[in-house]
Amino acid sequence: MADLRTRYLGLELQSPLVASSSPLTGSLDGLRRLEAAGVGAVVLPSLFEEELATGQDQVGGDPDVGRADQAGYGAGPAAYLSLLEQAKASLSIPVIASLNGTSRGGWVHHATRLEQAGADALELNIYYVSSRPGLSGGEVEENYLDVVRAVRRAIGIPLAVKLSPYFSSLANLAGQLVEAGANGLVLFNRFYQPDLDIEAMEVLPALELSSSVELRLPLRWIAILHRRWGISLAASTGVHTATDVVKVLLAGADVAMMTSALLHNGPDHLRPVELRLRDWMDRHRYETIDQLRGQLSQRSVPDPATFERANYIKTLASRTPPRR
Ligand SMILES: Cc1cc2nc3c(=O)[nH]c(=O)nc-3n(C[C@H](O)[C@H](O)[C@H](O)COP(=O)(O)O)c2cc1C
Repeated sequence: MADLRTRYLGLELQSPLVASSSPLTGSLDGLRRLEAAGVGAVVLPSLFEEELATGQDQVGGDPDVGRADQAGYGAGPAAYLSLLEQAKASLSIPVIASLNGTSRGGWVHHATRLEQAGADALELNIYYVSSRPGLSGGEVEENYLDVVRAVRRAIGIPLAVKLSPYFSSLANLAGQLVEAGANGLVLFNRFYQPDLDIEAMEVLPALELSSSVELRLPLRWIAILHRRWGISLAASTGVHTATDVVKVLLAGADVAMMTSALLHNGPDHLRPVELRLRDWMDRHRYETIDQLRGQLSQRSVPDPATFERANYIKTLASRTPPRR
C-alpha cells in the first residue's frame, strides 16, 4: 500500500492532506473529526491583529473573553490559546497556529504565546489590501518582510507565510521571505472580494467557496518555486479532489491544503480523497509521496517555459468562436 507520509515545515505528517484555517478547525470537535478522517495536520483559524488590539488580550483572565472550545473570528486570544492547548492535548497530529495581520506591531509578540501554548508551527497570514496610491509595491513588500523578521525573532518553531498571488515578482518576494526567516510558503490565500447589491445599493461582504478551477494559480507557482530554497510548499486554493492533490504534489507541494471542500462536504470528504490518491499512486507505481513530488515541476518538465508565457498565443487561438 502506498506510503502517504510527508514532511512539512520539518514536521512528520502521516498524510499530505492538511486542513487549512477555517471555522472547521476552530473547534475541538471539528479538529477531532478531521483527525479521525485522516488529515495529516491542521491549521487553526487565524488570531487577528484586530482582536489583539481591542483590549481583549486577557489570557487566563476574563472568562467572558471567548468560548473555550471555539476560537478565532473575534473570540479573542484567551479562547484561542485554550483551543490550541486542548488541541495539543487531545490530537496526535501536528497543530499549526495562525496569526493574521498587516504590519509589524505589538501583535506579532503573540507569536511567542502561541509557541508556548504548544503550537508545532506558526502560519503567518499577512492580509493587506493596499489602496494608497502613494505606497509603492516595494514598500508593501518591505512591510511583509518586516513582519516576518519580527516574528522570526520572537519564536523558535517553524514559520510559514501564507501569501496572496498579487505581487509583481512573486519569485523575488518568496526569496526575500525565506531570507527573512520563513521556512515555508502557503500558496495562496484567497482574498475575499466584496460584491455590490444593486437593489439595496450596498456593498456586500461576499464569501464564496472555491472550485477546482482555481487550482491553476497555486499549481503554476508551486511548480516554479519547487526546490528553490529547500523550503516547504503548501498548496492552498482549489484543492477539492484526489486529482487536485496529485496535481499539486506533482508540481512540487509538500502538502495539499483544503478548506472549501471540507466546509462543503464535511471532514469525511478526506476519506475518499485519500483512497483515490492511494489508488492513483498504485496505478502509477509510486510507493511514496517523495517519489512523485515535483515530477512535473518547472525544473522537471521538458519545456519549463510552459509555466510562464509560452503557449499563450497558441492557447488563445485554440478557442474558436461559435459559428452563428
Ligand atoms: C469561512 C472561511 C474562513 C477562513 N478563515 C481563515 C483564517 O482565519 N485564516 C487564514 O489564513 N485563512 C482563512 N481562510 C482561507 C482558507 O484557509 C484557504 O486558504 C482558502 O479558503 C483557499 O482554500 P480553499 O480553496 O481550499 O478554500 C478561510 C476561508 C474560509 C472559506
